[in-house]
Amino acid sequence: MIQNSILESIGKTPLVRLRKVTENIKATVAAKVEYLNPGQSVKDRIAIKMIDDAEEKGLIKPGGTIIEGTSGNTGMGLALVAAVRGYNCIFTTTDKQSKEKVDLLRALGAEVKVCPTNVEPDDPESYYSVAKRLSEEIPNSYYPNQYENLSNTQAHYETTGPEIWEQTDGKITHYACGMGTGGTISGTAKYLKEQNPEIKVIGIDSVGSVYKHYFETGEFSKDEIKPYKTEGIGEDIIPANVDFDLIDEVIQVNDRQAFLMTRDLSKREGLFVGGSCGAAVSGALEYARQTELKSSDLMVIILPDSGTRYISKIYNDEWMRENNYID
Ligand SMILES: Cc1ncc(COP(=O)(O)O)c(C=O)c1O
Repeated sequence: MIQNSILESIGKTPLVRLRKVTENIKATVAAKVEYLNPGQSVKDRIAIKMIDDAEEKGLIKPGGTIIEGTSGNTGMGLALVAAVRGYNCIFTTTDKQSKEKVDLLRALGAEVKVCPTNVEPDDPESYYSVAKRLSEEIPNSYYPNQYENLSNTQAHYETTGPEIWEQTDGKITHYACGMGTGGTISGTAKYLKEQNPEIKVIGIDSVGSVYKHYFETGEFSKDEIKPYKTEGIGEDIIPANVDFDLIDEVIQVNDRQAFLMTRDLSKREGLFVGGSCGAAVSGALEYARQTELKSSDLMVIILPDSGTRYISKIYNDEWMRENNYID
């Protein structure tokens, strides 16, 4: 079959059993391998959905400009959609993101503005504020805003959730997923819990993010905010796409745990993944061990992106040593 464009190959990613990193765990643990999307991340799913919905509502017209604040993966997805459909792209990102991600976006024809990481979200220099300002200044532009745009959650409700339900023949008992914008966890969990309300949903957060404290206390605490290096998960805001009512437990993972597991997934499972994948697996397996999952349990973990984006960091021994993640 010939596809009309590369956009038709988004989704339908494989579910792969983890065999080696799961020592002492009786349950079946399977990973949803999202780097096999054409833009090499889970974010292709929301990119096409946000633009489809915007076109339908008349929010973007031919030749228009897509403007988004992105850690890279959403930008990559949007850049693919823009290339196929004839839009321009301007992305704002932070100086914490890998150089590879910025180079990739530029390779796809996007303009990229790098903004400082360690400023308040409402600071005029923050990547959220710059994206918003540009979208107000540039005519015929559209700001998808993956944090607040509920097409993000809806994309996962329509695709990721049903795929996991079918791939596990409805036998999934636990769903573990990193929390960035919250779209992946909320949309997928909503679909899965509608099929079986007993399914437990485990959110993976980074040490230095506000989510865990907010989930447990209902309070937003600025004291929780600390710098960390894991890209894509954890936040210093509570976006509209996170639905805490669908989440049963939040586990925080530090950079060291995340990155060592990331390297293990590559070397021991043949899964060449990014840092938030190591975080998701590390947190999910911690939960599996703590709660002593049974052999009849089936846990699915989302692996959001590819190792190609982290060659100069997590997969670079020098960088790992400089940051004291390895000896
Ligand atoms: C690498 C990576 N992992 C995980 C996530 C989290 O997914 P979500 O934004 O749907 O919560 C993101 C989101 O930006 C990401 O870029």
